[in-house]
Amino acid sequence: MTIFSASSTAPVNIATLKYWGKRDKLLNLPTNSSISVTLSQNDLRTLTTASCSADFDSDKLWLNGKLESLESVRSQACLADLRGLREKVEAKDESLPKLSQYKLHIVSENNFPTAAGLASSAAGFAALVSAIAKLYKLPEDMSELSKIARKGSGSACRSLFGGFVAWEMGDLENGEDSKAVEVAPLSHWPTMKAAILVVSDDKKDTPSTSGMQQTVATSDLFQHRITEVVPKRFEEMKKAILAKDFEKFAELTMKDSNSFHAVCLDSYPPIFYLNDTSKQVIKLIHRLNEQEGKTIAAYTFDAGPNAVIYYDEINEKKVLGLIYNYFSQVAGWEKYSKDVSTLDKIEVQGT
Ligand code: DP6
Repeated sequence: MTIFSASSTAPVNIATLKYWGKRDKLLNLPTNSSISVTLSQNDLRTLTTASCSADFDSDKLWLNGKLESLESVRSQACLADLRGLREKVEAKDESLPKLSQYKLHIVSENNFPTAAGLASSAAGFAALVSAIAKLYKLPEDMSELSKIARKGSGSACRSLFGGFVAWEMGDLENGEDSKAVEVAPLSHWPTMKAAILVVSDDKKDTPSTSGMQQTVATSDLFQHRITEVVPKRFEEMKKAILAKDFEKFAELTMKDSNSFHAVCLDSYPPIFYLNDTSKQVIKLIHRLNEQEGKTIAAYTFDAGPNAVIYYDEINEKKVLGLIYNYFSQVAGWEKYSKDVSTLDKIEVQGT
């Protein structure tokens, strides 16, 4: 039996300007552009091996050792696009094996708990697309591949790039150009760090996909966010990244996290992702910045209570020290030591 295979990894990305809302559910076209930081390959990532053979009788996926379905519309959309691109390669060179006609076996592993609400679908679809693209020897145009990963999970398109990444919402008419592009590589700002505060590793209350649909359908505040707030912030944040202006970057990041959670609360019925511990983290970071007389740390929260804290490495002792101290001194520490189960420092540096 001849088996062809290739492996690839993709790290988790954490949005600093949030994607929340789809204008096309099937194609995962967003209602606004977004920006994120992709963590380093050494931190949270998915490793995927894609194999294909004329002897395989069906497409299969093993995720963390468990057989999972590849039947979802999202997975099927990614596989169909990748096979289509491979067919074009095969049409140009008759001597190539017809891999596009073979069934695929995909083996995928996360080096972090899937349920921890840490954007596992983003790394997952990005690694899947990148491994199959490698197997099919497709041209390495990451923005083109990001359009495919986007159909798997919107935020996945950003994980195909390292460093600071923008997902451009694209033309409202057709959305063909809704893709991820690099704003700057990690090497541009190597002192930028991120720490993940795992407040809870429970599964999300409201999954992102349905949560954002609920917001689009019911929130009045949402229109203001996508038309007035985000377009301006998108340009400002790219500028702050290119200028390595931490204070501006941090302010925009915190404001956008708050704006995103505000539209969640404005949804009907409301969606709550932050818990009391999350709110304490928010207050703590603002207090720290006030004491310092400048912004040295920023928080952001996705569709769950876990915090990601951005800071410059020069301030690491101050920022992480304060968080450790605070949570170990609060009365009833046992409760918090359970809630803040791991305080994991993730270095946003080097790949
Ligand atoms: C809050 O990318 O998980 O993390 O496109 O439906 O798969 P689907 O949603 P997903 O949503 C991520 C939402 C977010 C913000 C972000 O990552 O930009």
